[in-house]
Amino acid sequence: MPATPAHTTTKPTEAAGAAPSTPPPGGSTPHLSRTTAEPPAEAVTPLVRGIAVLRRLTEAGGTLSPSALERATGLARSTVDRITATLARMGYVRLDGRDVVLTPRLMELGNAYLAALRLPALLDARADALADELDESVSLAVGDRDGIRFIHQATRRRAMSLSFRIGDLLPAERTAPGPLFATEWTDEDWRRWHERRAADPEDRGFPAVPPRPHTTDDFERRTADAAREGWALDDQLIEPGLVAVSVPVRDPATGRIACVANVVSHTSRHTAEDLRATLLPRLRETVAAMERDLATAPPPPQGPPPADLATWTAASKQELGRDFVESLARGLTVLTAFEESRAALTLTEVAKATGLARATARRSLITYEHLGLVRHCPDTRTFTLTPRVLSLGFPPLSRTSLPRIAQPHLEDLAAQVQESASLAILTPSAEEIQYTARAVTHNIMSVDITVGTRLPAHVTALGRVLLADPSSPTAQAGYALADEELEEGLRALAVPVRDRTGRTVAAANLAMHAARHTRESCVEHLLPALRRTAALIEADLHVASRFTHVPLT
Ligand code: PHB
Repeated sequence: MPATPAHTTTKPTEAAGAAPSTPPPGGSTPHLSRTTAEPPAEAVTPLVRGIAVLRRLTEAGGTLSPSALERATGLARSTVDRITATLARMGYVRLDGRDVVLTPRLMELGNAYLAALRLPALLDARADALADELDESVSLAVGDRDGIRFIHQATRRRAMSLSFRIGDLLPAERTAPGPLFATEWTDEDWRRWHERRAADPEDRGFPAVPPRPHTTDDFERRTADAAREGWALDDQLIEPGLVAVSVPVRDPATGRIACVANVVSHTSRHTAEDLRATLLPRLRETVAAMERDLATAPPPPQGPPPADLATWTAASKQELGRDFVESLARGLTVLTAFEESRAALTLTEVAKATGLARATARRSLITYEHLGLVRHCPDTRTFTLTPRVLSLGFPPLSRTSLPRIAQPHLEDLAAQVQESASLAILTPSAEEIQYTARAVTHNIMSVDITVGTRLPAHVTALGRVLLADPSSPTAQAGYALADEELEEGLRALAVPVRDRTGRTVAAANLAMHAARHTRESCVEHLLPALRRTAALIEADLHVASRFTHVPLT
């Protein structure tokens, strides 16, 4: 379940770069002040607006109507339409009836940050193992200005409490990791924190948490304690029942905090004090192992640098004309130039990877720096992504599932070929298949199957694909055709859906009345369309599952 506070708040609306004259309702929130401040003269306005649209969609849980977007951003309707058309062309949103909906593909931006950071790749497995061992949630968080942002969640939450998503931002002072990060804050950081607290006493600028119920101002004392002890507690600072204990994971090269590891529980199982007494020792051992892993990690594998990532945009401009905002598309491509082995890039490297002119790449980077998405290091003259990149879609999209990923693609296919399309998985016994997603057409002869229906695996095309031994003829053909076996007059065609490792995790099919297509016409006309659909589902699955667990049901 997404972390939806059980209350309604008025979310602060950042001026979308369009209209500084429309102040956010309820006053401005200083932690957002970088984005509400006047952009520098060189900033790319369409990029500022496009980012505002993505962030409003993210805060809304992934879906908004164009008119709601208009209200949330303060942009004109025609601008909203051109921005969403451009984002749709990039595959970052889809236009679903009257709504604009974020797509899994957008996670490639957050993936670029997480890959460049390297911590998830190096530490996730230890966090997951600790969660399994303790049977409690374990998370990893990084500092994000005066907040903390999650980069990993191994969730085991049975009680009715909020569970946070990768990319969620929490106010530092209401968490256990917060005081640990604050041990490294500068005077400027503290000043900014005081300012934000004064301007936003109820934490309305943090949509992932319920409003602050009371004012506790012991954050400075908790920070001093954290500095002395090397750990910190959250005793129900976010909501009643939620407790956490945290330990910093230090970068062996610099000694600074790379991230903070948290064990999260509920007072029905552990009081905060009890967490410290019983689980802190195990958390510390895990953190020590994580620090050893960081110290001995080999440098990231060096692939060939990307080139010309942004050159496709000119063709789209040709095709779509005014509806395609090329400067937005080019600007967004800049974020995808960052990767595991390419965490800090010079302007020249960004220009080369994207194929953009230096001046264009530079203006995009200046825009991102203004928006707090990119940091410039003057010493090395390089740019790096900040945790805030995760605010571009990651929290809602990180809670997706394979059926949800597949649904729009199955609907497109069903509409295109006018036959029902489905997704299924093998049940644990491997004797049955179970339907997990379905898009039906309104043919009179359509088959009476719904999500959840189970059928014997061996008589269905879906089952044969799922059961296929990699060396079997069906597997080599890459599809299965089942003819009138399950039911007289029913014909079905199925293909595999594979995960990032190439393992078949599901199958997609088209089912029809035999009279509508001969066997030959199935293979000739329907198979290519079904294969394209499976490829689209796989592409989304591969992006979404790079740093998050995507359930198959
Ligand atoms: C969490 O991972 O959900 C979490 C971590 C630390 C906190 C609160 C929640 O203080």
